[in-house]
Amino acid sequence: MNRYTGIIEHYRERLPIAAGTRIIAMCEGNTPLIRLENIPALTGRQVEIYVKYEGLNPTGSFKDRGMTMAVTQAYAEGSRAIICASTGNTSASAAAYAARAGMTAFVLIPAGKIALGKLAQAMMQGAVVIQIKGNFDDGMRLVKEVAQAAPVTIVNSINPFRLQGQKTAAFEIIDQLGRAPDYHCLPVGNAGNISAYWIGYSEYAGKYAGSCNFCDGTCKFQQPAVVSTRPKLLGYQASGAAPFLRGAMVDDPETIATAIRIGRPQSWELAWNASRESGGWFDEFTDADILAAQKLLAEKEGIFCEPASAIAIAGALRDIANGKIAEQSVVVCTLTGHGLKDPDTAIKQSTKPLLQIDAELSQVKKAILDNIS
Ligand code: F0G
Repeated sequence: MNRYTGIIEHYRERLPIAAGTRIIAMCEGNTPLIRLENIPALTGRQVEIYVKYEGLNPTGSFKDRGMTMAVTQAYAEGSRAIICASTGNTSASAAAYAARAGMTAFVLIPAGKIALGKLAQAMMQGAVVIQIKGNFDDGMRLVKEVAQAAPVTIVNSINPFRLQGQKTAAFEIIDQLGRAPDYHCLPVGNAGNISAYWIGYSEYAGKYAGSCNFCDGTCKFQQPAVVSTRPKLLGYQASGAAPFLRGAMVDDPETIATAIRIGRPQSWELAWNASRESGGWFDEFTDADILAAQKLLAEKEGIFCEPASAIAIAGALRDIANGKIAEQSVVVCTLTGHGLKDPDTAIKQSTKPLLQIDAELSQVKKAILDNIS
């Protein structure tokens, strides 16, 4: 049987997990790389834009790639409790993998500042949810301190197994495209993901990609390819939480994209290195830019991502328009989390009226005729 079970089995030879280890997995990874069909035409330039839809992971974000690794390793080392600070997605993922492993998850979240869906996930999946009167950066500091004194394993991205798992997204993109993209756009918060992509692209560069676990390598999606290039990594931040643009840590970060409401990124050096080595850059976007991109993607392509993820689209479009992204390029944007994570923000910014009518044919007909375009 060739059932896909997750990134650890699929990329086993490239991941530091010992043989015979109990794998805590739930088919994470193997997410679609969707080519945008309508938005590129709006740019007036010749570019191919793809989105890596990480919102389709088991808990609705890219965190699952790292969490399967971190929890598998923590369990193997005999740990029975994990802990993280989170803006929401890490806590949802930690709760899920801990539940599956039979471990306890402690999650520290900024009170009142995480999206509703993420809170529901952590609560439903049995995590001990600790709301703090502070932000993510305060939570991170406390987690590091408490892990010195209590028998808990940190599963934030300072745990190196997290980045190892997350690097597999770069492998998948190359396997799916048959080459590396020219530019890779992604949101930057705690800066683990941009660092993980760089590890992944670097490991695959110069090597053969595309060997298929499911067939003899002859299926049309898995043509072996020699990968000789790495993309420029473009890291985008919310203006109110943009330490990479300021060149220094930021106190009191603020943005509607609560997932990236972070002022003190833990992977500061790694991310700078990834950006510089790749020849990429950082840029910043207002909350209005972020929401506009989220809406554009939903309305023009039918793809619903959370606000933080949409910054990748905002960035790609700006850099295509200003020519920093060259014509004829292949661009990949990571959509880090599903739109359903944050229904409040989506509903608040929706401009379409919610119609309400009597349950009568004539009124349904009228509603159709009034609104047909
Ligand atoms: N997009 C989403 C949806 C996220 O949840 C995060 C981070 C990021 C982007 C940024 O990724 O931190 O690797 O630079 N969320 C973390 C959390 C901090 O706690 O869920 P990063």
